[in-house]
Amino acid sequence: MRYPEIDVAYLNENYLKLQAGYLFPEVARRVREFCEAHPEGARRLIRCGIGDVTEPLPPAAIEAMKRAVDELGHRESFRGYGPEQGYEFLRSTIAQRDYRDRNIQIADDEIFISDGSKNDCGYVLDILGSQNKVAVPDPVYPVYVDTNVMAGHTGPTRKDGSYEGIYYLPCTAENNFVPEPPKEHVDLVYLCFPNNPTGAVASRAQLARWVDYAHEHDALLLFDAAYEAYISDPEIPHSIFDIPGALTCAIELRSFSKNGGFTGVRCGFTAMPKSVLARSADGRRRFGSVVGARNRTVLLTWCNAALKRCIPLRAVNRFMRSSIITWEMPKSFATPRLMPALRLSEESTRLTSG
Ligand SMILES: Cc1ncc(COP(=O)(O)O)c(C=O)c1O
Repeated sequence: MRYPEIDVAYLNENYLKLQAGYLFPEVARRVREFCEAHPEGARRLIRCGIGDVTEPLPPAAIEAMKRAVDELGHRESFRGYGPEQGYEFLRSTIAQRDYRDRNIQIADDEIFISDGSKNDCGYVLDILGSQNKVAVPDPVYPVYVDTNVMAGHTGPTRKDGSYEGIYYLPCTAENNFVPEPPKEHVDLVYLCFPNNPTGAVASRAQLARWVDYAHEHDALLLFDAAYEAYISDPEIPHSIFDIPGALTCAIELRSFSKNGGFTGVRCGFTAMPKSVLARSADGRRRFGSVVGARNRTVLLTWCNAALKRCIPLRAVNRFMRSSIITWEMPKSFATPRLMPALRLSEESTRLTSG
């Protein structure tokens, strides 16, 4: 039976601007045509489009998740809703091992566990104003642009698929795929190193120039370090907070998808130093805005929502407690400057997707 068509409520029309529905089928079409025309080249083709996980979870993850689920099945060990920000043991282990052990002063309560860094990319916009001028490397993980489109922070699409209102930072062979800060003013800069999809990493000096830019322009750096575990060159920073001054101008997104073979489960965290301040329309700097009292609450709410949506997150939390301590990167994944996503192996597919 066909239902009569009636309009209900209003649509967020920003969604109509999204290109992904056209882009990925188009990429797939061109890849197919190329492969048919060049079967030899097809075997060496590096796919930088959307992918999916191809490998199962590692045994350590499966065992830990089973144990955690069992725990929830007994009155003595059952726990109800966890804390919105994530379990203390996990936040404190992350703050200690990922940051303080590396001489970066991040407190336990500056770590927020989430249902993956992709989702945090979207949630973070809830606490940032729509008047911000946003800069995004090109090419880069498309989620940064799409979430800004959905939040209404961009103009319409141009013919080439780019959006008006976004400041694109070209990553080309000429700049070795690491963009320099622009001459113009922007308020919010997305940086992703090691980069998806180019694999480029930024040196300490290059990141320092971005931190200087952020201070000069009162800009916020949103640093996506999802692939930091693949860095094996000791000269390359794993975190934006390795750079002096970054604790007052940066937020860092991290994902367990890549370092834990955990892609698809979605678990990650955001490090938001209390020393990051944001402006309000009256020109005042708010304590912790991105970090301050009010917005911090908003942030906590994301995490709350995340916990509700992601049923096994508690199990994941428990799993991560053991995994952080015991896991090592598979050696075959650790390349000096390029992340393995650029390798043409089956195993790499799980690293690029999501
Ligand atoms: C750069 C980058 N950030 C974030 C993510 C998403 O990570 P998660 O699985 O934690 O949502 C991906 C996944 O492909 C990614 O490539």
